[in-house]
Amino acid sequence: MQTQIIEASCGLKGEIVVPGDKSISHRSVMFGSLAQGTTRVQGFLRGEDNLSTVAAFRAMGIQIDELPEGDLLIHGKGVHGLQEPLDVLDCGNSGTTIRLMSGLLAGQTFFSVLTGDQYLRRRPMGRVMTPLSQMGAQIWGRQQGQCAPLAIVGKPLQGVEYHSPVASAQVKSALLLAGLYADGTTTVYEPHLSRDHTERMLRYLGVEVDSFDGGASICGGQRLTARDIEVPGDISSAAFFIIAALIVPGSELLIRNVGMNPTRSGVLDILQAMNGQIEQVNCREAGGEPVADLLVKSSPLKGIEIGGALVPRAIDEFPVISIAAACAEGRTTIRDAKELRVKETDRIAAMAAVLKTLGVAVETLDDGMVIDGAEQLRGGTVSSCGDHRIAMSSAVAALRSCSAVTIEDTACTATSFPNFWSLLQQVRG
Ligand code: S3P
Repeated sequence: MQTQIIEASCGLKGEIVVPGDKSISHRSVMFGSLAQGTTRVQGFLRGEDNLSTVAAFRAMGIQIDELPEGDLLIHGKGVHGLQEPLDVLDCGNSGTTIRLMSGLLAGQTFFSVLTGDQYLRRRPMGRVMTPLSQMGAQIWGRQQGQCAPLAIVGKPLQGVEYHSPVASAQVKSALLLAGLYADGTTTVYEPHLSRDHTERMLRYLGVEVDSFDGGASICGGQRLTARDIEVPGDISSAAFFIIAALIVPGSELLIRNVGMNPTRSGVLDILQAMNGQIEQVNCREAGGEPVADLLVKSSPLKGIEIGGALVPRAIDEFPVISIAAACAEGRTTIRDAKELRVKETDRIAAMAAVLKTLGVAVETLDDGMVIDGAEQLRGGTVSSCGDHRIAMSSAVAALRSCSAVTIEDTACTATSFPNFWSLLQQVRG
């Protein structure tokens, strides 16, 4: 088992570029494979999750070249160009891969089986299986269809109007992908807007997707036209460095080329409400997505209340937001975030365990947590629970602790941020 020992920092300085956005990288491979023509992807994240998606599409007959300069070249075969895979498709740790592919594979003319690692096989799949079944999909899974492995017999699908009980881009995207193969229109309503990269990238590739307040809809039978894609830096990865720079006194960090999609930038709204100094400079657009450089300076943070529509806009950042809360003056309350319980691990329980070890007063709620800021964090030994974001959030906490923090089970950071530890070393001087 890999372990990291991290000590306090006396200021993070310099300029960094974080790796490409994980969600957009997945979609670039999926939609590039379905497009007619060749798609060059610049800034693709070579994390384990995304490499699972690449392997799955290669297994379905798509040629994907990795160019020496790091770009991907995807030789798309059109919406009906995928072939039956010879073996089980292994999605590794990636919820986005398994859920989006369930939607895509439901409308094919072949049989496929999807599985993943021990963490993914525990995560709920009923949220995509139920609406896909309403469209006519034939999917089986363990635990009455709730869990992977999933077996899918491709069938003709019918459009559906589905009111999702959860704000989930994976559910919405799975249905929009199935909708590409369905007769008629597929409409997904969600309680709050989740990330809209699927809608944006499909439109960028020439598909008509209607986004409206409360959901999105697509008509079946459309084609995707290949077009080069530039993947911006991942705001979810940048968040570790943003919060590290805010909480470590004497820091000033410039993070270049960060995706600023409003459905993802909730972490900035939260940190600014906590009194964090984060300036957006050089705002621009790349591949249908807004992008900026972020200048972050250490700031005295204060506790706030977080809930409602803001939660899906920052859903992956709560582990590290809980570290910001632990270093803030006063109390931070996070509510409406029950989804955290079904991520790569139960992130409410996992972060509460980390914070308690570091001497922070924390109370867990069914749908969130209450954190009282501490003057100083303690050192100690914590576990990532096999979750990349818990490992990296613990490392951020360690930068403000009075003695070293040992983080167990850290190889998982490779799923989304392969160079996290070296970048951390670089900026801490
Ligand atoms: C993702 C959607 C989110 C997010 C995940 C990536 C995506 O999951 O947590 O890391 O790429 O669509 P949910 O759709 O389950 O909220």
